[in-house]
Amino acid sequence: MPAASLLLDWYDRHRRTLPWREATRDPYRIWLSEVMLQQTTVAAVGPRWLRFLARFPDVGTLAASPWADVAEEWAGLGYYARARNLHACAQAVVARGGFPTTEAGLRELPGIGAYTAAAVAAIAFGREVVPLDGNVERVTARLAAIEDPLPGARPRLNRLAQHWMEQPAARARPGDFVQALFDLGATICVPRNPACAICPWLQGCEGQRSGIAPTLPRKAAK
Ligand code: ADE
Repeated sequence: MPAASLLLDWYDRHRRTLPWREATRDPYRIWLSEVMLQQTTVAAVGPRWLRFLARFPDVGTLAASPWADVAEEWAGLGYYARARNLHACAQAVVARGGFPTTEAGLRELPGIGAYTAAAVAAIAFGREVVPLDGNVERVTARLAAIEDPLPGARPRLNRLAQHWMEQPAARARPGDFVQALFDLGATICVPRNPACAICPWLQGCEGQRSGIAPTLPRKAAK
């Protein structure tokens, strides 16, 4: 198993400075960043996240605002259904008196899927869970040299990624561990021409050892 401590050491030296990472564990801010990041690049989300928070500084303000204001602020971010879900979710959070603090509780909110529930649980509440996004799928498939194609391989990749979180170093810092995985996937273990030579997990990488890392994950033929 790749050592969580090596990845966290790397993250401490190379972590990207992103606005939602600075001094916040506020579930509202984390949730908003994760919803925006599902459809928009990291670079584009930064300024939009700040602007959204200037207008809707907390979940109560968002919940109480007219839909037209939310839609206006979402312009250019795509997928209005997501903004609708965001608004409905804010209202549900206010109705129940705050964000649930567990993955299962978050999953019950309207419009919160498996990925968002896990991301908020880990980053805002320090729960020991790894959200499976495209980056994490790729890193996991390569580390363990999983050649089964997506989407069928997903449950197996998910089990492996959750297993990594069981290490004491990861359990001590769940939010940092998942964000380290995101950064590894976004900057080193990238889809094309991964920078394996400088990867903190090079030693434990089965995909690299067998020379197939850049070809993973495989995708089922349509
Ligand atoms: N992609 C999705 N969530 C992210 C996060 N918290 N940091 C960096 N990239 C991400």
